[in-house]
Amino acid sequence: RFTMRFSQPALQQKQQHDINRQRRRNLQVSVVGASGGIGQALSLLLKMNPLIETLVLHDVANTKGVAADLSHICTSPTVKSYTGEKELKKALKGSDIVVVPAGRPRRPGMDRKDLLESNANVAIAVAMAVSSVCPSAFLAIITNPVNTIVPIVRDILKSQDSYDPKRLFGITTLDVVRAKTFLGQSLCIDPQRINIPVIGGHSGITILPLFSQSNPPFKGDESEKKELIERVQEGGSEVVKAKAGSGSATLSMAFAGAQFVGSLIKGIKNEEDKPIVECAFVESNVTPLEFFASPVILGPSGIKDIPCLPELDQLESQMLQGLLPVLLKDIEQGVKYANNFI
Ligand code: LMR
Repeated sequence: RFTMRFSQPALQQKQQHDINRQRRRNLQVSVVGASGGIGQALSLLLKMNPLIETLVLHDVANTKGVAADLSHICTSPTVKSYTGEKELKKALKGSDIVVVPAGRPRRPGMDRKDLLESNANVAIAVAMAVSSVCPSAFLAIITNPVNTIVPIVRDILKSQDSYDPKRLFGITTLDVVRAKTFLGQSLCIDPQRINIPVIGGHSGITILPLFSQSNPPFKGDESEKKELIERVQEGGSEVVKAKAGSGSATLSMAFAGAQFVGSLIKGIKNEEDKPIVECAFVESNVTPLEFFASPVILGPSGIKDIPCLPELDQLESQMLQGLLPVLLKDIEQGVKYANNFI
């Protein structure tokens, strides 16, 4: 009987060969909703990422113009564009990463969950197209309400036999970006130097920044901590109010989305010595809920590992207990919604 065996050096050589092949791979990132407020800024930031070879823009209108504009920037990614629902599959074919900022934004007085009816359809269409033309792509959702849309997308992908929990992400990076900014202001230091996990979901009290885990440590008292937590939880609403009817966060969301996609790419390319960690809303068992945002370790196949939650302080434990039933409802709403489609 013939069995193929590798000697130790041959095995190492093969592994190195696989890694090199991965690094050389022509990496395609597709943005669905690329002509919108988030989409344009996100596409601009992705055009600055030298690890992307092909940047595909898709939207229902104005995609050609945005693509022509971006394509004049002297950076390496090649820009392609597709317009309308009919071209969605064509756009996504060959994607390694599909990032979705498409959908309607909130107006003052609205909650993220009020967007479900208007935004679920686009997420479902994307999930169907991904299943059909790029089932092994990483799918990263910005479309709100993230807490409910991500479970819907999971169930649509499952119904098409193309769900891999390691490859579906709700982007919650903006909550981390806000926590770093507000804590940086409080500590009077560069926010880029701060590390702070934000767990839970992406809406109101489901957003829980863990100031007990920040590095450098948080120095304020309990009331300042409560104030900062609340500011992070209400960060989205702060922008919605300030924009007074013209939408929600676009630039900071684009920054956050580009950072998250950048980390997914680093994971795929597998070039870093240190682990690549981002908080994201993913299927997980760190709590009794099916989905939860927490730090995840990224690698070439998506999620490599989801570490257990750290030890929380008393206030955070209380807030975690408070958010679980709210997040459970959001997730259940998604499961119910998806059931009507499958
Ligand atoms: C945000 O956090 O800014 C986004 O989720 C948009 C919103 O509606 O708040």
